[in-house]
Amino acid sequence: MCGIVGYVGERDCTEVLLNALSKLEYRGYDSAGIAVFEEGKISVQKAKGELKNLRNKLEEDHKPEGHCGIGHTRWATHGEPSDINSHPHGSKRVSIVHNGIIENYKDIKKFLIGKGYSFVSETDTETVAKLLDYYYNGDPVDAIIKTLSDIRGAYALGIIFKDFPNKIFAVRKDSPLIIGVGDEENFIASDVPAILQYTRKYYLLEENEIATIMEDRVEFCDIHKQEIIKEVNISDLDMDAAEKGGYEHFMLKEIHEQPTAVKTTIAPRIVEGMPNLSECGITEETLKNYRKVFIVACGTAMHAGMVGKYVIERLARCEVTVDIASEFRYRNPIVTPQDLVIVVSQSGETADTKAALHLAHEKGAKVLAIVNVKGSSIAREADMVIYTHAGPEISVASTKAFSVQMAVMYLLAFEMAYAKGEISKERCMELTKKLSDIPELIEKTMECADKCQYVASKLITASSLLYIGRGLDYTLSMEGSLKLKEISYIHSESYAAGELKHGTISLVTDEMPVISVATQEDLLEKMVSNIEEVKSRGAYTITVCKENMEFSEGIMDEIIEVPAVEDVLMPMVTVVPLQLIAYYTTVLKGLNVDKPRNLAKSVTVE
Ligand code: G6P
Repeated sequence: MCGIVGYVGERDCTEVLLNALSKLEYRGYDSAGIAVFEEGKISVQKAKGELKNLRNKLEEDHKPEGHCGIGHTRWATHGEPSDINSHPHGSKRVSIVHNGIIENYKDIKKFLIGKGYSFVSETDTETVAKLLDYYYNGDPVDAIIKTLSDIRGAYALGIIFKDFPNKIFAVRKDSPLIIGVGDEENFIASDVPAILQYTRKYYLLEENEIATIMEDRVEFCDIHKQEIIKEVNISDLDMDAAEKGGYEHFMLKEIHEQPTAVKTTIAPRIVEGMPNLSECGITEETLKNYRKVFIVACGTAMHAGMVGKYVIERLARCEVTVDIASEFRYRNPIVTPQDLVIVVSQSGETADTKAALHLAHEKGAKVLAIVNVKGSSIAREADMVIYTHAGPEISVASTKAFSVQMAVMYLLAFEMAYAKGEISKERCMELTKKLSDIPELIEKTMECADKCQYVASKLITASSLLYIGRGLDYTLSMEGSLKLKEISYIHSESYAAGELKHGTISLVTDEMPVISVATQEDLLEKMVSNIEEVKSRGAYTITVCKENMEFSEGIMDEIIEVPAVEDVLMPMVTVVPLQLIAYYTTVLKGLNVDKPRNLAKSVTVE
């Protein structure tokens, strides 16, 4: 989603802004712009499309030279992607960049029109810029405070005022923003990777704190203008991890990083052969007493939650409900203080997941967050956090984050099952050992890459696909289907295999390939029957199954084998071919693997 950057210091501001914005490109955007102080004036340049369009425009038109400015990559919400709707927005006196959504912008716009203001864009952001202008009487902080009391919604704002050519002002609510601290230079950014090439030091801006960023210092105050003293954080993010490191695409690199990511995530949580989540605030005592577990998340993280449901219910015999966060927040769920709500999020900033966390707190439940990004909003607000150690995930299509989220679900399920007396210590240790062996097996699974590439070559002409599976395999088929459609733009649906004949099988013809996930031994016979049903209706059948399985001739057109582990752990290896099929199909179609159209990595609006 939208990215914010800002710079004040000795360097060429335009170059710094462009470099910093390039590090946020992975979040997804459709236009970009900058506003830089140049000879006392605010010089604004914007361009629809990729950052390189903005670069070209600057070269051809005018590249502002200055030392203080703000920049933005926009993911359209209000108004189509266009030069005009791009940020920064403003007046002659003020210019702003904004992430989030201002819910009452129509009322504010009406009010401002009544005061003689006119608007050029369709954005909610322009109303905030004009409102700041309306309230501005020489003191930027006063104008910001008055504006904050009028606007409703989510925002991270970077603001410059014409009268203060060496200062950037910043404020946020429900959208992240950090202040980078350099040597005689300072920054703002919506995400740490944007500034890592310049500094590792940063302040986390809290809700409704107002920051004034100058070359040599940063000052903070609250909405009553009381000074706030804050501590500097040091980022330990690995810069190389955010580079492609020889791989053609981030997605492929991240698929290959899965063994290491899983190992790094689980190893510190295994003590003497048993799962141990005590450093995350989780004890056997608390785990055995929950009445019910809710797992709430969006997208791929929700699929990891579904794996969690199957595993926790199967092993710990505790009831688990999985919810899409945008549904959970509006369905008035029956959550009680005796329940555990688990929110799962790679970014830790997903708006709906965050809202679900707030709702769970309102209902008195404890919230456990499974989060990848350290210090993110969800991690900070939850009662307990299990950090996944996947490192930065840049590709919009989530891969390694999914694997580590599943790995954490297993640890949690094993510990809960043991705490509740559902499994013995020996069995718990056995399962934990099998989980520790998974990274090597994921590595081995990569051997199916050639086969996946071959299968992909058969899929590129398809206009629609079905993914089917039962039980845990059904959850994996959902993830496989999502992966394929989000990056290859081939329509696909995932179905519980037994449900096919209640309607969807009418779609099956020789033009509809069917990918079956068939790794669960107790369900294998039923799966084979379902595959026969689609085969006899002409489907090209691709089956992902355990190695060395024997099937009758003529049912499976293609078989992709993955290493055999105990059924309950199969998703950890099964996901790899599903990711690779999506990846290679997209590459063969010549599409942008890492930045698919219309999608954002971190969805910070509803
Ligand atoms: C977006 C991303 C998905 C991700 C989902 C949830 O849609 O494109 O890859 O699964 O958000 O994101 P989160 O950061 O909460 O895991």
